[in-house]
Amino acid sequence: MRSILQAHAEAAARLTAAGVPSPEHDAWRLLEAASGLSRSTLLLTGASAVPEATAARLAGLVEERAARVPLQHVLGVAHFYGLELAVDARVLVPRPETERLVELVLRELADGLADAGPAPATVLDVGTGSGAIALALKAELTSAEVWGTDVSEDALAVARGNAARLGLAVGFLRSDLLADEEVAALARRAAVLAANLPYLPESDRVALQPEAAADPPGALFAADGGLAIAARLADQAWLTLPRGALLALELDPRNVRGLAERLSGWEGVRLEPDLAGRERFLLARR
Ligand SMILES: C[S@@+](CC[C@H](N)C(=O)[O-])C[C@H]1O[C@@H](n2cnc3c(N)ncnc32)[C@H](O)[C@@H]1O
Repeated sequence: MRSILQAHAEAAARLTAAGVPSPEHDAWRLLEAASGLSRSTLLLTGASAVPEATAARLAGLVEERAARVPLQHVLGVAHFYGLELAVDARVLVPRPETERLVELVLRELADGLADAGPAPATVLDVGTGSGAIALALKAELTSAEVWGTDVSEDALAVARGNAARLGLAVGFLRSDLLADEEVAALARRAAVLAANLPYLPESDRVALQPEAAADPPGALFAADGGLAIAARLADQAWLTLPRGALLALELDPRNVRGLAERLSGWEGVRLEPDLAGRERFLLARR
């Protein structure tokens, strides 16, 4: 029988051979899932033998990950802004950089959007996927009325399940951007419209990492160098949002400036960097 440390080393070696980008980390996460034990417990008892049932479970998980199934799909969960979200092939795995979009919205609200009045702010997350942004904002802004929308019914099913599991009162509606009349009515009184829509240029399709290829194609790419969907939303938001409302978008460092330059009439248009220092977020007030 192998020890825990040996099992980890073997799993990491198998993942390395398969080209998995963070094999050591993923091997620990898989060992945690297979054993039901935390990483610290596993480390503290590293010399003890791995029970056969755990070893068999681990082997299955390692092979799945070695086939470049995203770690979050293998585990069935992704962590986002302190929340544990269920994810599967119906939704984009929420990315760590999107947590920064949540932070930027919270900071803007703290800086005075609440001046809009005593009524609870209406917050809209367009293209909600797993519900990540909407749920993180609701967890922080408990008195806000938060809505998530998506064109994909499959994604909305995942988002509704996450809201129910987390006990967060977020409403979810199907709409192509703001086209649905109920969604447009929400936008007309929204204090914030946040969105992380598909923004990769179509030319990225060929060089996609296998993990990203597991995301729904409708969640990744947009025409017009990645801007087609976000630019359409910005046009609709201009016609719909009340004065002073915040538009907060995540885009690609290669195209975010391009959309900022197209915005006309908006106030306080500015770009914000992600944690790697690349311009990724566009903020503007209607
Ligand atoms: C990049 S994913 C982001 C998901 C989630 N906001 C996140 O940050 O993890 C983009 C999402 O936008 C949705 N979407 C694409 N086109 C849309 C449209 N025209 N209207 C509404 N949602 C759309 C996709 O179905 C997908 O769930």
